[in-house]
Amino acid sequence: INDFGVKNEPVYEYLKGSKERVELEKELKETAAKTEDVPIIIGDKEFRTKDVRYQVMPHNHKKQIAKFYYADRDLLNKAIETACEAQKKWDMVPIPERLRIWETAASLMASQYRAKLNAATMLGQAKTIIQAEIDSAAELIDFFRLNAYFLKEATKYQPISENPKITKNSMRYRGIDGFIAAVSPFNFTAIGGNLAYTPALMGNSVLWKPSDTALLSNWVIFNICREAGVPPGVVNFVPADGPVFGDTITASPHLAGINFTGSVPTFTRLWKQVGENIHIYKNFPRLIGECGGKNYHFIHPTADVETVVNGTIRSAFEFCGQKCSACSRMYVPESLWPKIKEGLLAKRAQLKIGDPTDPQSFTSAVIDDKAFKRIKNYVDHAKKSPNLEIIGGGNLMTVWATSSNRRLSRPKIPRIKLLTEEIFGPVLSIYVYKDNKIKETMDLIGTSTSFALTGAIFAQDEKFSKSAVEELKMTAGNFYVNDKSTGSVVGQQPFGGARLSGTNDKAGGPHYVLRWGNPQAIKETF
Ligand code: SER
Repeated sequence: INDFGVKNEPVYEYLKGSKERVELEKELKETAAKTEDVPIIIGDKEFRTKDVRYQVMPHNHKKQIAKFYYADRDLLNKAIETACEAQKKWDMVPIPERLRIWETAASLMASQYRAKLNAATMLGQAKTIIQAEIDSAAELIDFFRLNAYFLKEATKYQPISENPKITKNSMRYRGIDGFIAAVSPFNFTAIGGNLAYTPALMGNSVLWKPSDTALLSNWVIFNICREAGVPPGVVNFVPADGPVFGDTITASPHLAGINFTGSVPTFTRLWKQVGENIHIYKNFPRLIGECGGKNYHFIHPTADVETVVNGTIRSAFEFCGQKCSACSRMYVPESLWPKIKEGLLAKRAQLKIGDPTDPQSFTSAVIDDKAFKRIKNYVDHAKKSPNLEIIGGGNLMTVWATSSNRRLSRPKIPRIKLLTEEIFGPVLSIYVYKDNKIKETMDLIGTSTSFALTGAIFAQDEKFSKSAVEELKMTAGNFYVNDKSTGSVVGQQPFGGARLSGTNDKAGGPHYVLRWGNPQAIKETF
């Protein structure tokens, strides 16, 4: 709870026999039993094209949970036209009325549709109960509530009017003339909600291209928001082929911004296209992107081993390491390595990899075959690497990967690229350093990758941790001391990174919603 009385949505435990567990189990059954037909939505109309796609369960590829359709160029252009038309009216809806709709949506998510959101996330994205709950319930609800709160607070600021009887100064927030394209990822249901709906809260209209592998959960969000009162055309639900979507939106003079979470190559491509077309736009489009990381845990010789082991296992392997914030590389002092290695292997051996609906499962399958192959390539590469040892000085790692049918769970030998490239899977690369090389090792953190998303140091020496915060200042947008690199909470740890990790606009922070505004200062003289 903060000074203003705003608090985060509580995370439920889903204990056996509890009301929420019973509701969730019912919803899981219903969701698993059907293949939801999900149309394209433009304004208040449904469209179905011949380009039919299916979302399958990552842990059971035979089970299709959603059937959906790719919008073609014509439909995307229609969506642009519809969005631009809708925006004119939507931007005139007073902010208190918009805040009311957001609060209604948050309440629907928190109660009536919590189980539906979680079931779609568990079955569609292979998240365990707790991983779904912190995403498609708590974080999603927090984005809706806190962004509304941040907008309300921001509008309270009004400029100084020295003599208001003669001259009155004021400032108001408008949407940006045009449309915003929201391109969202599979790994957090909540991110889809934030990318599409926070620009809308500010008075913009949106073309939302959800991820094919988060289709169903994103569709549930879309329907909740319609029910809460977001008018037709304000957010248009347009699954599409990535390049077709990118080419169409960047070719429109009405493009007002792109709200993106995904890979560096895709964001770079969009940015270049915007650059090439810059002369055609009415506005300089706003580009906000979050693009991943190569996140680290740095372990100081004074670190508490148990804290390190527990935090690292969770950060590296929860949701198969498919969080942008997941720990992917760890730097361990030689003096602590035997204990840390023992702890990691012991802990890992206890963890169950299984069906996401099984409450005993710690993690489940990676999202799809493409991801599995990419991860496996890294593991194979590690296996072939001849020059590294498992124990002793030098470079070390643990590798752990899983997919629907396969499991690779033995410690493997790394190559240095495993310490520098984003893998986005359950692979942890460990570098064991000599205890007297702390400074040199810290230098490696910043220089060995182009990312700067999350990082953590573990040290009981407070003097060291304070100096490390400064030393490593530029290596992470979200930095943790004696805690794992994942698990940022909306309103508590605004999230985002710099360098190639993105534009660092801090989702869940007070300025994010304002980035979508087009403020106008008015001076009235009487
Ligand atoms: N916000 C998430 C975390 O911190 C990642 O997107 O783990």
